[in-house]
Amino acid sequence: MVEQLLFKLCVVNSNLTQCTKPFLIKRRFLFCFFFFAPYNKDMHFHIITIFPNLFDSYISDSIIKRAQDSGVIQFSFYNPRDVTKNKHKKVDDIPYGGGPGMVMMAEPIIDIWEKIIKDRNDSVLDKISFVLKTGHLKKKRKFKTILLSPGGEKFTTEYAKTTVTEYTDTIFICGRYEGIDSRVQQITNAELVSIGDYVLTGGELAAMVMVDSISRQIDGVLGNKGSLEEERVSSHEMYTRPAELKYRGKTYSVPEVLVNGNHAKIDEWRKNH
Ligand code: ADE
Repeated sequence: MVEQLLFKLCVVNSNLTQCTKPFLIKRRFLFCFFFFAPYNKDMHFHIITIFPNLFDSYISDSIIKRAQDSGVIQFSFYNPRDVTKNKHKKVDDIPYGGGPGMVMMAEPIIDIWEKIIKDRNDSVLDKISFVLKTGHLKKKRKFKTILLSPGGEKFTTEYAKTTVTEYTDTIFICGRYEGIDSRVQQITNAELVSIGDYVLTGGELAAMVMVDSISRQIDGVLGNKGSLEEERVSSHEMYTRPAELKYRGKTYSVPEVLVNGNHAKIDEWRKNH
């Protein structure tokens, strides 16, 4: 509501003070377009981890960095150590029933999870800054909570696409040690998700993989290249210059069809390679 009022005020002000009449109508039309255009293609990633630094280099470079700069994706990190109530900042304990290793305690994670949802729903500042940055209204926040686990549902491109269309905020809970107290999953109703049939030392790498794959499904993250890149999944052979590469006395040539520039033939070739 506040964002709508603010935006309306900006529009009316700029129109009344700066425009001649025909131009005024055009500008009003333009602003109305922005005002009513549906916008649901942005994502706020919330990452609960005891090792937030692991994400630093990945998110501060390349496409993911540009997407943040343009405001379509955002990151927030939360460390369970910062909210533990015991004086040694312990976040794990021995498992009930015995067994090897340690288990991450439920309470710090649940406290963080609850606060994320409360703060995001309350944040008027965030809404205003989004409208000013993108010219779009943010629709009501929808949260998806994911608990990274080698035994979870397998992550796919389809899963990434659905996440982008249906949610505005994704909360990743990254486990370490032998796992996380199961009551976290019961209380947050998190989906257990695996990125493959192998066991990592923690959920952080898996979260990064998912962030990457989800981000590329958001409009504007890859620019026009997006659809082409998806197509390339089915055509895994690709080449660039030089057309002839010499290596240890042998010549490796780019397939003739790709060099000749006949796009119908190239499309046909791509279907089979
Ligand atoms: N944590 C440890 N291994 C994992 C995997 N393969 N996928 C998701 N989370 C994990």
